[in-house]
Amino acid sequence: MKVDIAFLPYELGKKDLSGKSLVVIDALRATSTMITAFENGAAAFIPVTTVEKARAIAAQNPEFLLAGERRALPPEGFQLGNSPRDYLPEKVRGKTIVLTTTNGTQALVAAQGGAEIYIGSFLNIKAVCRQLVKAGRDVLIACSGEKGLFSLEDAVCGGAIVSGVEKIGLSLDETDAANAAKILYRHFANDICGMLFASEWGQHLQNMGLGEDIHACALNDTSDFVPVYREGKIFVEL
Ligand code: MLT
Repeated sequence: MKVDIAFLPYELGKKDLSGKSLVVIDALRATSTMITAFENGAAAFIPVTTVEKARAIAAQNPEFLLAGERRALPPEGFQLGNSPRDYLPEKVRGKTIVLTTTNGTQALVAAQGGAEIYIGSFLNIKAVCRQLVKAGRDVLIACSGEKGLFSLEDAVCGGAIVSGVEKIGLSLDETDAANAAKILYRHFANDICGMLFASEWGQHLQNMGLGEDIHACALNDTSDFVPVYREGKIFVEL
């Protein structure tokens, strides 16, 4: 099985995605938030790239929740932000959520063309690894990054997935990028929370008074869910 990682979103356009399992990661915070929401009973997410599109979809579907962030805060009139702690069972159970975030939902929408797109974060590493092995396809991990640039937390999370798939006992054909991500993960493996706090976006979240979210995104394998993004919707296959 070949395993590769795109540290930067633009790399997706340079790679052949066909027939591959893609894993989109936005560890701080979009994909961690989605997994938390599914754990709390959310039905589906509709990821969109702009605040205007999100507002339009929510206006046509008043039963949907309108959610997301720009510079970490909910745009005006949004019912939820992008904090995992907002997605409480009493708010999200059974709900479809239209979500727009600065990087995570952009990466999802850009990651079209693979055989399947999975949602990953530190909350579901083991479950993602099991799913990738079960699917048996070549793997491409897509980091959301920060406005087109590298983000440490997504690269480390991607490395944790490379390492986890390898631990299952498969002989992997790793690209240089996948190998680099794995080495990065090993460096931080004993203190993922510290790495998240020290990252650039982690520091921004702390400055915005959202440090508690970092703890919620640092949870290790608390979820067995591996949400899939198919035909415009993210959901958990039961
Ligand atoms: C994003 O999509 O850029 C992030 O999830 C930002 C955030 O922490 O809200």
